[in-house]
Amino acid sequence: MHQDVEQILYTEEQLRSRVKELGCQITADYAGRRPMLISVLRGSYIFMADLTRAINLDVTVDFMVVSSYGAGTVSSGQVEIKKDLSDSIEGRDLIIVEDILDSGNTLYYLMKVLQARKPASIRLCTLMDKPERRTKPITADYVGFTIPDAFIVGYGLDFDERYRNLPYVGVLKPSVYEK
Ligand code: IMP
Ligand code: MG
Repeated sequence: MHQDVEQILYTEEQLRSRVKELGCQITADYAGRRPMLISVLRGSYIFMADLTRAINLDVTVDFMVVSSYGAGTVSSGQVEIKKDLSDSIEGRDLIIVEDILDSGNTLYYLMKVLQARKPASIRLCTLMDKPERRTKPITADYVGFTIPDAFIVGYGLDFDERYRNLPYVGVLKPSVYEK
């Protein structure tokens, strides 16, 4: 275990099997359709890679870079699109793929932006959900794990751009961000 990690919340094996389940559920729910998976970078890149391979449908993928944090552990509430989608989403069935739903600020803003482009439907798939911290009326359609209020890293999730490469999800020691 990494020295900055206090506790492992989900092992590589637990992540793998839950992501497979989500993929099966999406495959069943979208039978006969061609959903477009939109990965919100950077945090969701590993989840996205595993999830798309667990979906047995004719999917397409696109990527967006959105930023709301800087180097803190609390959302600033200010959301900025740093890289927009490459393709049109009009008439498409969208599945937004997020690493973690926290205050809901990022998704609340993103949903509004995407709705305005007239997709056929939008659903939200998040690997982690921290419902205790929600300040915006946002709920995910697919949730990997519901977790208590702690700052977590690994499997794509960062603190100040570090720890994304940890193969598990762990709680970061508060001493790391209180420095
Ligand atoms: P929200 O806008 O507050 O819902 O924050 C969503 C974004 O904040 C996520 O996509 C993450 O990038 C980041 N975030 C929130 N909580 C955590 C955490 O515990 N670890 C790492 N990143 C987090
Ligand atoms: Mg982040």
